[in-house]
Amino acid sequence: MDRIIIRGGNRLSGRLPVSGAKNAALTLMPCALLTDEPVTLRNLPRLADVDGFGHLLNQLGASTAIEGTRPEEFGRVMTIRTGRLTSTEAPYDIVRKMRASILVLGPILARAGEARVSLPGGCAIGNRPIDLHLKALEAIGAQIELAAGYVKASAPGGRLSGGRYRFPVVSVGATENVVMAAVTAKGSSIIENAAREPEIVDLCNLLVAMGARIAGIGTETLEIEGVDRLHGATYAVMPDRIEAGSYACAAAITGGTLDLVGVKADDMRATIDALVEAGVVVTEQKDGLRIAGPDRLGPLTLSTAPYPGFATDMQAQFMAMLCMADGASVLTETIFENRYMHVPELARMGADILVQGRTAVVKGVSKLVGAPVMATDLRASMSLIIAGLVADGETSVARVYHLDRGYERLEEKLQAVGADIERVSDG
Ligand code: UD1
Repeated sequence: MDRIIIRGGNRLSGRLPVSGAKNAALTLMPCALLTDEPVTLRNLPRLADVDGFGHLLNQLGASTAIEGTRPEEFGRVMTIRTGRLTSTEAPYDIVRKMRASILVLGPILARAGEARVSLPGGCAIGNRPIDLHLKALEAIGAQIELAAGYVKASAPGGRLSGGRYRFPVVSVGATENVVMAAVTAKGSSIIENAAREPEIVDLCNLLVAMGARIAGIGTETLEIEGVDRLHGATYAVMPDRIEAGSYACAAAITGGTLDLVGVKADDMRATIDALVEAGVVVTEQKDGLRIAGPDRLGPLTLSTAPYPGFATDMQAQFMAMLCMADGASVLTETIFENRYMHVPELARMGADILVQGRTAVVKGVSKLVGAPVMATDLRASMSLIIAGLVADGETSVARVYHLDRGYERLEEKLQAVGADIERVSDG
């Protein structure tokens, strides 16, 4: 199994290209199930999760063709064509490995009038139920049964009716699923308290490019008028605001200066505000953001919240960064229970963190020390990389497959801006 070895102490400096957003890619790809015409996605990140999603689409009858981007370039162009759905089932083996597979439920149901998708089961960052996905689909006309670990959904008469649903809590995935299902319903749908994440805007923009009729994009109320059919489209995946935020924390903790090329400041205001409050200088540039870390970071009080609040997907990276702040920070995780699994690993590197329920108090220390560490999820793994960049001596991060799910060529990007980092294979 691979490990990443970092020798800390180098200030990061230079230009770092930001890849296409993983979470956008994983909701744009299933849109190709909604039409028999080709959907071409540009700026698709090269990630294990994107490959996995491609395989799932293949199993459903879609062809996926990757066009000629050179190996040294970031991102790829993929054309997905679903002439006919040859299967309406997403099996346990795939869904278990990649939770986002649940996002095929809405599109398969809309296209075929029926779908069978495995329940995702447990997940490292908490319970993560899918009840809201199912309730929202029911509200637009789906009949849902749960049996033998599977969700079986059908549309009476072969086509969803449309309807009205108000989410009791904001869910990114459930909003995506119901939007993808509603765009070809017989009637119109109103989705209230919808998630407003930039990835949802990206999804709606692709669907509109395919012929969907959606009003209120980017607000908490989406009004969708069903259309008879969608056509193909070519669309560029938005830049990854979480990847960019992660590298911003990396620059800040080393006191370095990075130009994050391609990212959009408007997608990550809460992250920028938090960085600025910690003393980081953030400058908007024509092609992205310049991040300049101070000599000593200041502490923060942060609470995660749905967009436009501070993203739960940034919590672990900020926690690592704040380990080196001058004073005590207070972080509160409101979205997922059990999302502090990086804490014991950071503690092994000398961090002083006390967790009580959903709150973590991070007391800044004068130094971190390299150690062998491992993490159980993607962003937690990134927090260990960030800590390793500033730690004395060598940090060895195991379970690199978590990072490969969400960070395109992490060690290459960091090497190019001065980090002493390499991937080693233990065979
Ligand atoms: C997506 C992102 C993930 C991010 C999260 C929150 C993808 C592939 N993943 O995950 O990186 O951390 O948004 O920004 O885009 N909930 C229910 N019932 C449901 C669905 C959700 O109770 O049916 C709860 C969840 O347990 C959680 C909260 O709602 O407490 C938010 O989850 P949700 O927004 O759905 O996250 P995901 O779409 O799974």
